[in-house]
Amino acid sequence: MVLADGTLWQPDDPHVPAEPGLPVLFPLLDDAGPNELLDKVRYNIPATAENSKNERFIRFAFYGLFLIKKYLCDPMGQKKLVRFEAIKSFSNVLQSPENIKGLWHEYFKNDHPITLELACGKGEYSVNLGRQHKDRNYVGVDIKGNRIFIGAKTALAENLTNVAFLRAQIGQLTNYFAPNEAQEIWILFPDPFLREPKAKNRLTHPRFISLYQQILPPNARIHLKTDSKELFDFTLETINEHECIIHECIADVYGQGKATGALAIKTFYEQMHLAEGRTIYYVSFSLPQKPIVYVRKKKVNIDADEE
Ligand SMILES: C[S@@+](CC[C@H](N)C(=O)[O-])C[C@H]1O[C@@H](n2cnc3c(N)ncnc32)[C@H](O)[C@@H]1O
Repeated sequence: MVLADGTLWQPDDPHVPAEPGLPVLFPLLDDAGPNELLDKVRYNIPATAENSKNERFIRFAFYGLFLIKKYLCDPMGQKKLVRFEAIKSFSNVLQSPENIKGLWHEYFKNDHPITLELACGKGEYSVNLGRQHKDRNYVGVDIKGNRIFIGAKTALAENLTNVAFLRAQIGQLTNYFAPNEAQEIWILFPDPFLREPKAKNRLTHPRFISLYQQILPPNARIHLKTDSKELFDFTLETINEHECIIHECIADVYGQGKATGALAIKTFYEQMHLAEGRTIYYVSFSLPQKPIVYVRKKKVNIDADEE
């Protein structure tokens, strides 16, 4: 690959190349890209006809800025390309692997319990918990390779051999994990999918919960941290409906002084939400013994965009 400065980078080069310089003109569109900014707009505006018109306008404006950045300031989308190339050679990133189901303990070369961080983005929980608990393994799962790159690079640099990343669709978790192969799940600031037709994409929807049940032993903990009251309430309803057991439920993590231990770790999205003064909610629960059956009413696409 030819980088912006004209130098060549080889995939097997152990040194990840410096990323192309970011244009100072659009710092907002760097790590918080148009999708993140649109998320904020979307999640903060109640769904009314007037708001939906405004949202269309704001979406149009963001994408305008994004296109200007892409074609005038970053012609090859080089930062993403560099990251995609880099993770191909990272020993701690598995991209839609075909033969990993049931073999995670061989991969980690130990029998330690496995915690999943779903929709991990940059993998702050996997990296931080991996540093603190060497007697556990952590797998961050996300579809976006350029986000996974950040956590994977840190884990490699610090030789965190108990931390790995799986680039895959969460809806296909059962292709990658055998029954009882994972022991805990963290879900941090997932997209809340506020509009009703998209509700089935929420990571605490019964459709997903029933997938988690297929890879977790009974009594395994699932933790959700979110800034979305709607997603928090929806999750509590799902928990009640399916007779899950709540272990801890906090309606205002920071307001109640509960940001200690694992809850003190702040993800990229959490930092953005805190900067806006948003309330952070947390619930941890375990699944019932009886199977959670989700009956699909019509075809639902639970795949996220791949980037
Ligand atoms: C709002 S971001 C949160 C990222 C991170 N947890 C944080 O708090 O900074 C949601 C993440 O979920 C990922 N995601 C959403 N749906 C997914 C799916 N079905 N499969 C894999 N990743 C998904 C997106 O790629 C994105 O990185």
